[in-house]
Amino acid sequence: LERTYAMVKPDGVKRGLVGEVLRRLEHKGFKIVGMKLMQIPRATAEEHYGEHRGKPFFEGLVSFITSGPVVAMVVEGENAIAEWRKMMGATNPKDAAPGTLRGDFAATIDENIVHGSDAPETAEREIGIFFKPEELL
Ligand code: GTP
Ligand code: MG
Repeated sequence: LERTYAMVKPDGVKRGLVGEVLRRLEHKGFKIVGMKLMQIPRATAEEHYGEHRGKPFFEGLVSFITSGPVVAMVVEGENAIAEWRKMMGATNPKDAAPGTLRGDFAATIDENIVHGSDAPETAEREIGIFFKPEELL
């Protein structure tokens, strides 16, 4: 079993898509082992998106992700990292297939509803940024 860091971004929370995201995760058979509603502090956002520091969209990305509450989750299941990325769809919603969350609900690359770790090392790092070990049940 694998764990990944999954998140409903501020646009997803504002648009009332938390239930839809949870429904899809649960119906797929994933287990939610950690979950909280939070507003991400700026420093945490910069750490989370550290790989993008210096890129032209970095400031906008940090502003967006700190602009309102997110739902932070740790999701567990078979091949959870890759499976959750598949359910999210392509980063740019214009390329995201119908049936994926981004394909069905997002319109622009700047506000694309959900996040998921992209590799095992990333998952471990991101889970550690957002959750204390005792918050995972
Ligand atoms: P996250 O789950 O948010 O990490 O998305 P991702 O893993 O599919 O994409 P990536 O980590 O490469 O980029 C993080 C976020 O930066 C994306 O979700 C986009 O919102 C934004 N982003 C990435 N590339 C671009 C780009 O070329 N232009 C713009 N405007 N935003 C970008
Ligand atoms: Mg990413």
